[in-house]
Amino acid sequence: MDDMKSSQESAVSSQDIACTSAFSVKNVSYKYPDGTHALSGINLEVKKGAFVGLLGANGSGKTTLLRAMDKLLKGVDGTILLSEIDINTLSPKEIYKKVGLVFQNPDDQLFASTLFEDVAFGPVNMGFNAKEVERRVLNALEEVELSGLEKKSVHNLSFGQRKRACIAGLLAMGHETLLLDEPTAGLDPMGEYRMMKLLRKLNKESGVTVVMATHSVDLVPVFLDRLYILSKGRITRGGTPEEVFDAPEDMANIKLRLPHIAELIYRLKHEDKVKFDRIPLTIGEARREIIKTLEASMGKG
Ligand SMILES: Nc1ncnc2c1ncn2[C@@H]1O[C@H](COP(=O)(O)OP(=O)(O)OP(=O)(O)O)[C@@H](O)[C@H]1O
Ligand SMILES: [Mg+2]
Repeated sequence: MDDMKSSQESAVSSQDIACTSAFSVKNVSYKYPDGTHALSGINLEVKKGAFVGLLGANGSGKTTLLRAMDKLLKGVDGTILLSEIDINTLSPKEIYKKVGLVFQNPDDQLFASTLFEDVAFGPVNMGFNAKEVERRVLNALEEVELSGLEKKSVHNLSFGQRKRACIAGLLAMGHETLLLDEPTAGLDPMGEYRMMKLLRKLNKESGVTVVMATHSVDLVPVFLDRLYILSKGRITRGGTPEEVFDAPEDMANIKLRLPHIAELIYRLKHEDKVKFDRIPLTIGEARREIIKTLEASMGKG
């Protein structure tokens, strides 16, 4: 996509709006009570079963957009459709049943004294009997690799464990759509990778629609289907990771960078004039491109 206009138009193409839509965000703007314009004319489309990223620098509006999509803000301009129904016509309970929001800071989300009680809160509220609640809690904890810690106080879990505990709380409720605010922030490199693998598993195997805000440019091309770039409350690009990362200069303008591996190949191509047909975004792709280039140069020699 070449410019903001084309990305915004493609974000709401008529094909996208066919009945498989999880979220349609149409011309959404939001101003905080102190006058901060946090969102301006946002259009985006999330298809059911998609794995979508919102990528943007600090203060670009990611958290505000996720909160608007979960109907946690009053006075939002524009329209947000959840499964084609205007969220303004849905009660908080109806939204709570369909959409789970994982907060940026796990301490804003966890509140019960033990891990078991915290994860059980949602299923208990949904009216399941004790046996079913226990089944759901144990399954969810196993999914996020926290089995065995049921009796532990949530305050004594590590940061990464608290992040995963928040996700377990939503898994136990069986949401069809998850909104996650920086699920990998503050995790060690292996923790980031495990978190992304967990989200991909939920997405690909259980069909959960996932929308996540992130800064992790190195991880997104490996895992996400579609990406929207937010800058100063506006969506400036949208598309597959390949399409979005196709303009390195634009990334620098909005205080983001290319994935490290793409940056290396981009510099080899433009500064050292090494021939590459395309800029790879992952180590696997880069390896294939480099081997191709080496083979071509050996063939010439
Ligand atoms: N409660 C609030 N009241 C007033 N302004 C706010 C409030 N929350 C956020 N903002 C402002 O809205 C803008 C967008 O903030 P937001 O938290 O959505 O950004 P973000 O992309 O999530 O940033 P980060 O990567 O730091 O989490 C910023 O200018 C911020 O200062
Ligand atoms: Mg945020």
